[in-house]
Amino acid sequence: MDTRPALDQGPLDAVDLADPLLHANHDLGPLWRRLRDEAPVHWQPENDSRPGFWVISGHADVVSVLSDSASFTSERGNVLDTLLAGGDSAAGRMLAVTDGQPHKALRSALLKPFSPRSLDVVVESVRRGTRRLVEEAVERGEVDFAADVAAHIPLAAICDLLGVPPTDRQHIIELTSSALSTEDGRPDEEATWASRNGLLLYFSELAAARHDKPYDDVVSLLVTKEIDGRPLTHEEIVFNCYSIIMGGHETTRFSMVGGLQALMERPDQFRALKSGEVTTSSAVEEVLRWTSPALHSGRTATQDLFLGDQFVEEGDIVTTWLASANRDGRVFAEPDEFDLARTPNKHLSFAYGPHFCLGAFLARAELTALLESLCDLVAEARPTGPPTYVYSNFLSGLSSQPVSLTGEPAGSRAPLTSSAGGG
Ligand code: HEM
Repeated sequence: MDTRPALDQGPLDAVDLADPLLHANHDLGPLWRRLRDEAPVHWQPENDSRPGFWVISGHADVVSVLSDSASFTSERGNVLDTLLAGGDSAAGRMLAVTDGQPHKALRSALLKPFSPRSLDVVVESVRRGTRRLVEEAVERGEVDFAADVAAHIPLAAICDLLGVPPTDRQHIIELTSSALSTEDGRPDEEATWASRNGLLLYFSELAAARHDKPYDDVVSLLVTKEIDGRPLTHEEIVFNCYSIIMGGHETTRFSMVGGLQALMERPDQFRALKSGEVTTSSAVEEVLRWTSPALHSGRTATQDLFLGDQFVEEGDIVTTWLASANRDGRVFAEPDEFDLARTPNKHLSFAYGPHFCLGAFLARAELTALLESLCDLVAEARPTGPPTYVYSNFLSGLSSQPVSLTGEPAGSRAPLTSSAGGG
């Protein structure tokens, strides 16, 4: 007997959005629709193990909360788990959980290495690496697309950016995956803690090495740069390396696997992309909207205020659900259709406002590289086994998707050109 709560009926309070199992085991579409229609500013009541929090589900409300960093701070955490635990130990030191002038100063220092021009070399290497991975997967015929292809692309890009040597990359993949989510849904606090500390220690050692001998990479930039007239502290450097790797690896990987899954379910869309009937850039945006890898962005109210007709008190946790906003029929026609030609596509997968994803250009370039390689090299993709969903209330995606990839005849392959994708 199915014991899961029905999401299209019954009291909304009975559904616990903090529960990672809920997100892995359900299609939350019906729940998001109800929340947007019946309770767009919904109070998720406290229970024995955690405090209550606000759930914002409509596109316009999400934009309005994320734009207003005076009324909603990130400094007490920006993901539900840290907010519920009472705060983020990196607050005021790591970009995503810093506000005001310190955020502005740190962000403008980091904008340069994340700009399209500076990323030229990284993007070119992403395109070559992605094509090689897809070629190898086609040669093997059957692969786990999540582990064998998608996991390597964002990580290689971030490691290029940060200057992590190739020999250390497998270690970084393992630490990053277990720091963010578990594959069986059981929280393993000890393993998560050990992985997070492993990453912090790794970057602490890398920063010390770059301090002595700076290269042209982001770690060296953080080590040598002055912000607001002072050098960054060792902790600030380490926390921000950690934030870049955590922010850019799993999110991009999940958008890639979810994108392929959507294409496998809709061969007509894959054909339209291959034939050039839809552009890669609109396809990338739709994959981002459809997959919504970061489910929410969280904030804390800094003052008493009204959100819609609800009274929010200073100190309340306010979570904005990007996954729901991305299916809001007030903004997207046929929001539950995967339509690669969708334009405009005002998805919120990279959030909105001052904390808008710093890695958006890079993530788009990675997805562009993947879609181009799939179009050039793959005639047909189909699943050969069930997918495995990650258990997390923050990230949404597949940690495993066995697939079979049939190649295009060699003569029909398009050559690799050197135009950078994304943006
Ligand atoms: C911020 C999503 C890729 C680095 C964010 C935020 C979201 C997000 C939702 C805002 C968090 C908030 O409002 O509290 C995504 C998604 C990605 C992706 C869905 C891929 C599909 C990347 C990449 C990098 C990156 C590739 C770096 C290599 C960051 C950083 C921030 C951020 C540093 C903090 C920006 C700030 O607070 O000013 N990302 N991200 N992200 N992301 Fe991404």
